Amino acid sequence: MTSHQNAAGWVAVVLAAGRGTRMRSRLPKVLHPVAGRTMVRHVCEAVRAAGCEQIVVVTADAHDEVAEAVRASIPGAVIAVQGEPLGTGHAALAARAATGDASRVLILNGDLPLLTERTVRELMQRHDASNSMLTFLTAFLGDPTGYGRVMRRMGKVVGIVEETETDATTRGTPEVNVGLYAANAEWLWPTLSAVTPSPRGEIYLTDIIARAVEHPEGAQAYTIVESAEAQQVNTRVELSRAEQLMRERIRERLMLDGVTLIDPSTTYIDAGVIVGEDTTLLPGVHILGESQIGGGCRIGPGAVLRDMRIGDRCEIGGSTLEGSSLADDVTVGPYSHVRPDSTIEAGVHLGNYAEVKASRVGARTQVGHFSYIGDSDVGCDVNIGAGTITANYDGVDKHRTVIGDGAFIGSDSVLVAPVTVGAKARTAAGAVVTHDVEAGSLVLGVPARVRPQREGV
Ligand code: UD1
Ligand code: CA
Repeated sequence: MTSHQNAAGWVAVVLAAGRGTRMRSRLPKVLHPVAGRTMVRHVCEAVRAAGCEQIVVVTADAHDEVAEAVRASIPGAVIAVQGEPLGTGHAALAARAATGDASRVLILNGDLPLLTERTVRELMQRHDASNSMLTFLTAFLGDPTGYGRVMRRMGKVVGIVEETETDATTRGTPEVNVGLYAANAEWLWPTLSAVTPSPRGEIYLTDIIARAVEHPEGAQAYTIVESAEAQQVNTRVELSRAEQLMRERIRERLMLDGVTLIDPSTTYIDAGVIVGEDTTLLPGVHILGESQIGGGCRIGPGAVLRDMRIGDRCEIGGSTLEGSSLADDVTVGPYSHVRPDSTIEAGVHLGNYAEVKASRVGARTQVGHFSYIGDSDVGCDVNIGAGTITANYDGVDKHRTVIGDGAFIGSDSVLVAPVTVGAKARTAAGAVVTHDVEAGSLVLGVPARVRPQREGV
């Protein structure tokens, strides 16, 4: 199934309205991040990647945190409201109207962040290729605790026993219900409507499996070999397991794509991060958010990069870089901080203890040692002396500093914004620059003035 065309007639229903009480959190369960992305986003992205465009997410309220997060991160997804969380079957029914005339329905629990596109696609294909009313995913786990157990008689699936309803004989059953189902709509909706509440007062989606068995074509199970995909998240212990599994998966993908990880276990990379070939990540590196790193870079040890765009051949010593871009051949740190909205052009050197915020730093410019460059536009081939400060804040407002191409800012200069230093101008060491400096001139002193012309000088 490679195109949307093949997934035509399918709609996915993602269940995300549960209270998630076992998480003991104020944040709804499906919004807890795994490798930097919410669980519900992971699930929806696997569905989309599998070719199913139409997604209905069931939430407790049309405008709660989950609904808003889905609107922001899953374009085109439709919200269906469950209201009272009366069980997974009740949640699926809440999506019925929103699924329109789709003939096949994929139902997924929202707490399965490790499900892959491949597995989702495979399940849909198997369902399409069969006459079953229902195809669902199972896995064999060393420890099945917390999952519904799959009951078989003479090899045939006969139903699911939920964790709370297991007894001494069913508890040890290693085959579990993962929480991914494909069903024929015309069978699913009436069947689900007929399910009666469990002893705990919930309508279990899993009860439709026993119903499907009554049908001649029955239910078929598709068992995955890669049991990591079955990792659900009910508690924070499971959340940490899912996080670990996801990070391992991401690291392996990067290594197979040509990235060297010196110590994978201490290298943290969020889902969706792109890293180019022959980049080396040293121990203790974190690459987070929507970062894209070029090839041939050397990063770390101990660098934290969030939402960064980085070109090729950059060298980044243990530094923190956020929400900014670095062109090719930039060197940073160690111990530098690039704050959001900064554009660092090719060949720039930001040395130790350089802080840059909301600034452009032009090509080949050197900021060798402890400096603060904020709200500034620094040209190309500028030298920023050690200890240079752009004093951008007057206590009320922020102001901009402009430094022209080829300027030389002497050590310990303070540039009191708003101020412009012209191209090729110079400031002497210790200058406090309160007025604009003309191109090509030299200023010195406190406050800085143009050097008086003396005879013979
Ligand atoms: C469910 C399955 C179980 C399976 C397990 C693995 C049922 C009855 N049991 O159990 O067989 O082994 O998942 O993934 O389905 N939700 C709602 N509304 C509700 C209740 C839940 O939207 O009223 C959502 C939750 O937000 C969650 C998903 O449904 O994303 C699954 O709910 P959860 O409580 O985690 O089900 P489990 O008890 O784990
Ligand atoms: Ca669960």
